[in-house]
Amino acid sequence: MKKVLLLQCLFCLLCIVKATADPVVKIQTNAVELIYKVADDGRLYQCYLGKRLHHDSDIAYLPQGGEAYITHGMEDYFEPALHIVHNDKNPSTLLRYVNHTENAPEAGVKETVITLRDDQYPVTVKLHYVAYEQENIIKTFTEISHQEKKPVSLEKYASSMLHLNRSRYFLTEFSGDWASEVRATERELDFGKKVVDTKLGTRGNMFCSPFFQLAMDGKSRENEGEVLVGTLGWTGNFRFVFEVDNAGCLRVISGINPYASQYSLKPYDIFRTPDFYFTYSFDGKGEASRNFHNWARKYQVKDGDRSRMTLLNNWEATYFDFDEEKLIGLMDDAVTLGVDMFLLDDGWFGNKHPRSSDHQGLGDWTETQDKLPNGIGRLTHAAKEKGIKFGLWIEPEMVNPKSELYERHKDWVIHLPNRKEYYFRNQMVLDLSNPKVQDYVFGIVDGLMTKYPDIAFFKWDCNSPITNIYSAYLKENQTHLYIDYVRGLYKVLERVKAKYPKLPMMLCAGGGGRSDYEALKYFTEFWCSDNTDPVERLYIQWGFSQVFPSKVMCAHVTTWNSSSSVKFRTDVAMMCKLGFDIKLTDMNRDEVAYCREAVKNYNSLKGVVLDGDQYRLVSPYDGNHTSTMYVAKDKARAVLFAFDLFPRYAEKMQPVRLQGLEADRMYRVKETNLMPGTRSSLRGNEQLFSGEYLMNVGLQVFTGRKMNSRVIEVVAE
Ligand code: GLA
Repeated sequence: MKKVLLLQCLFCLLCIVKATADPVVKIQTNAVELIYKVADDGRLYQCYLGKRLHHDSDIAYLPQGGEAYITHGMEDYFEPALHIVHNDKNPSTLLRYVNHTENAPEAGVKETVITLRDDQYPVTVKLHYVAYEQENIIKTFTEISHQEKKPVSLEKYASSMLHLNRSRYFLTEFSGDWASEVRATERELDFGKKVVDTKLGTRGNMFCSPFFQLAMDGKSRENEGEVLVGTLGWTGNFRFVFEVDNAGCLRVISGINPYASQYSLKPYDIFRTPDFYFTYSFDGKGEASRNFHNWARKYQVKDGDRSRMTLLNNWEATYFDFDEEKLIGLMDDAVTLGVDMFLLDDGWFGNKHPRSSDHQGLGDWTETQDKLPNGIGRLTHAAKEKGIKFGLWIEPEMVNPKSELYERHKDWVIHLPNRKEYYFRNQMVLDLSNPKVQDYVFGIVDGLMTKYPDIAFFKWDCNSPITNIYSAYLKENQTHLYIDYVRGLYKVLERVKAKYPKLPMMLCAGGGGRSDYEALKYFTEFWCSDNTDPVERLYIQWGFSQVFPSKVMCAHVTTWNSSSSVKFRTDVAMMCKLGFDIKLTDMNRDEVAYCREAVKNYNSLKGVVLDGDQYRLVSPYDGNHTSTMYVAKDKARAVLFAFDLFPRYAEKMQPVRLQGLEADRMYRVKETNLMPGTRSSLRGNEQLFSGEYLMNVGLQVFTGRKMNSRVIEVVAE
């Protein structure tokens, strides 16, 4: 008996020695760890994803887990990450570990590259992981290459594959439509597949956003529980596959949507997938969001470390109906409000087919003589005289069939040559896979900037998805179009950024139809939605804030939902990047005075709102009220926003507990953004409280009034 036991122990010991001798790859941030091990079969397995482990000796005990990057054609029965058809039509790939390298491109960032190779075909797959230590974000992408004689066909080519093995999984996705973006829905995943994807091409996330939250073991919560939050940096068709297998294990596959996108990869070329970014929080969604916000401002977003301009946009104030005089009048409104910039929207261009409505003119980027006889130059000049900046709307990837561009270059337009054209908002998409079209699109920005160097901002719109998909340029490689379009767009944006590095730009796609972290390398901000009803916006901002910092989310005060007060509308917009899209004549004197004061307050609070830590305190999804606060990094200052939506009669209201303060510091609480002539009714207003009190007892900030709002400053003394 003793002998058997001894033999068993010896065997276990041998296994451990063997296991530890096999290569182990650890991708670590300060709090999160992803571990891969090479098994006896020479293949790579993900054996851990979770809280960082600190004892190397434990690694030997980790279960083998799922294969890191599962390939089609071998022994797996579920969705693969990679599917290649080789020159001999063999559709299988089997990847074995070759080596891995580690380097530190900058302080706080570690990059790991794992090289895998097929032993039957000269195919190499490199899995890249970039770990942002402090922010707890891991960026992953994959490079695929081969040395077969002829091109291979890539059928599936994920950016990332992650495995989880928990009791239950709850997925939150963010879907909707034009004017109802990012509606959060949470569901439990059980056996089978849930796919979140888009086939819209350009206006890629009109119906669903490229990010998700995956809570482990129970439903997601704001401040507790384990949650993995992921997002793809790709301004086109994306796909997330969540598949629970027969053993209850979940795989998450993220990347470009391979739908109608087989890619023919030439020998020695490298197919680089887009980046997938994820964080893993052990304290709920709030922390996961803050991880993303911190990382985005520091590493990803264009000018993430700089402030943002407030603005007045003319779109809802005039639509297409304006002339020089009207615009200059609106600039005076901008000055009265005290904002930094005037933004001229759609409708300023086209002569043969003037852009008097959305039926014509797109593509002809010269000023309409009747409306602007003295060109954009007169407007930049007027803005300068008034001490504000000037910004301009463009939609450079699009064309109306009623335009000179279409008449000249039908071959530049994505359309099926033998079928009736289909128009979305009366327009079509230019073929950015074609380098000549790329030159043309870059030339729109470059031409305007060369002629009018005082243009200080662009709003870059994109209203049509890709339909009738066919490229005259790509000829036999039609299935490359969805991908090459996006790559062409990035080439253009790269040129714009290189030549005009200081030029801020807003990304827009008929509202929030484009918002992803690759685009945000080139854009300082995005337009969240054409829906500016403040009640709706509270949900939309809540949705986008799950992965994006307030700094990149444009929020404007308009006349939508005019049954809500101007104060309510402004207070909602002040939680993000504040702007106005309204005429002063739409407001009474008090309201204008209120807005002026609000802009001043915003300028003083902007550092906290745009660069501080965000705490979502009360969700609009949970009832009739919502509240969010921002805390400066040094915890000396905070601002709390509280909104009553549609409270019930005699509803029981709880105080709101603040977060992120220092328990032992004293803070003065002061309601700001008050309408002229009104006084705060906040209990404890202007009083001094400890952080401990504010975080454990809280403030009674909600009221029984419909669409009522409060902005409260919390300042340490
Ligand atoms: C889109 C945008 C709007 C506005 C119009 C102009 O719908 O989302 O903000 O710019 O185009 O046509």
